[in-house]
Amino acid sequence: MNILDIIEKKRDGKELNKQEINFFVSEYVKNNIPDYQISALLMAMFINNISFKEIVNLTNAMICSGDTICLREINGIKADKHSTGGVGDKTSLVVGPLVASCNVKFAKMSGRGLGHTGGTLDKLESIPGMSITLTNEKFKKQVNSIGISIIGQNTNLVPADKKLYALRDVTATVENIGLIASSIMSKKIASGSDTILLDVKVGSGAFMKTLQRAKELSTVLVKIGRQFKKDTRVLITNMQEPLGYAVGNILEVKEAIATLKNEGPEDFTILCRKCASVILLQSKIVNNEKEALKMINDKLISGEAFSKFKEFIKAQGGDISYIDNPNKFNLAKHVVEVRAEKTGYIKEINALSIGKSAMQLGAGRKVKTDNIDFAAGIVLKKKVGDYVKRNDVICVIHTNKKNFSDVISDIKNAFVFSDKKVDKQKIIIDYIS
Ligand code: URA
Repeated sequence: MNILDIIEKKRDGKELNKQEINFFVSEYVKNNIPDYQISALLMAMFINNISFKEIVNLTNAMICSGDTICLREINGIKADKHSTGGVGDKTSLVVGPLVASCNVKFAKMSGRGLGHTGGTLDKLESIPGMSITLTNEKFKKQVNSIGISIIGQNTNLVPADKKLYALRDVTATVENIGLIASSIMSKKIASGSDTILLDVKVGSGAFMKTLQRAKELSTVLVKIGRQFKKDTRVLITNMQEPLGYAVGNILEVKEAIATLKNEGPEDFTILCRKCASVILLQSKIVNNEKEALKMINDKLISGEAFSKFKEFIKAQGGDISYIDNPNKFNLAKHVVEVRAEKTGYIKEINALSIGKSAMQLGAGRKVKTDNIDFAAGIVLKKKVGDYVKRNDVICVIHTNKKNFSDVISDIKNAFVFSDKKVDKQKIIIDYIS
């Protein structure tokens, strides 16, 4: 078999077979095929599309390119959740402990933030003492004993995706549904859980900009899960405006704490409850959504979900005095109010602009190697649909940077006003199972 024949075949719009896909993935990982040939192949795949059979074979070849994690030692059904990424997305910080307090085994390997989107690991690391680098043995032991652990990748999981994703990033071949779906699902399946809940974000701050694309991706993700015998379900959720009010690591941890005490923002609370209810159904803890929502409500009101969060943070070395007293977290040097320049209803708060502005303030990374400032970010004071008068505070910025006047004007431009009443945005758009 040789790579040139494979490139030619895909260039001519033909379907690659399993052996050809296994060949190019495994030889690329071993550095036996140069980037320029895989770039040509990826572009042919992007332009001619890949069939569902090719997507499944590609997912499988990527899983086989590295280690896989076996969670068999953990008793019961192991649940995982993944978000395609957004602005202010701290959902796992709430959903994990919430479902663990309902006896679900929540075993999650998470990632870091890049660009305008945040990452769960960074948010967790903003809690002093918190470690996200457990060995697999400790990870499994913790999930068995307290029901939850969230860590970073500690093994050579899906090395093919690392190489291929980096190459797609610089060859304009990221935005292909088949390539995206196999990239996401290979990592989720290799992580070893029994059930997968995917939160596919749609809107300006998301990877998927239109509902049609989000639905296409979601359908393929669920179909791949079925092929690999994993109960995979998707929630398509709104990322047109930021989720909740807080954007930035410590700020989001504080909002997650409030939500676990049942005092969180409306949109974020609805999303957390819905994610948790789907996971309870997947884990067969309940028989229907009504039972799930009742259990979730009880855990939030009784304080058990919040206690589980503290147990989880403590188990991974985090200092829970910060959780008990969030005012202990460091504040940035500059905490500055941003005021509305118009009177009217808020029609749009562009999530992409807010995410980029938070990054400029220090909350995110432009490139993987950048350091982040845990205290930096933006706290919105208004959401889409709210009525504001000129000079009302629309958000507060937190930063340790000296010069931030350009960021303030970007933030002001992210808010669009209307004279007419505007409806609040719906957070849950669709559910695919
Ligand atoms: N997220 C992934 O993990 N892979 C993609 O290809 C796109 C988004």
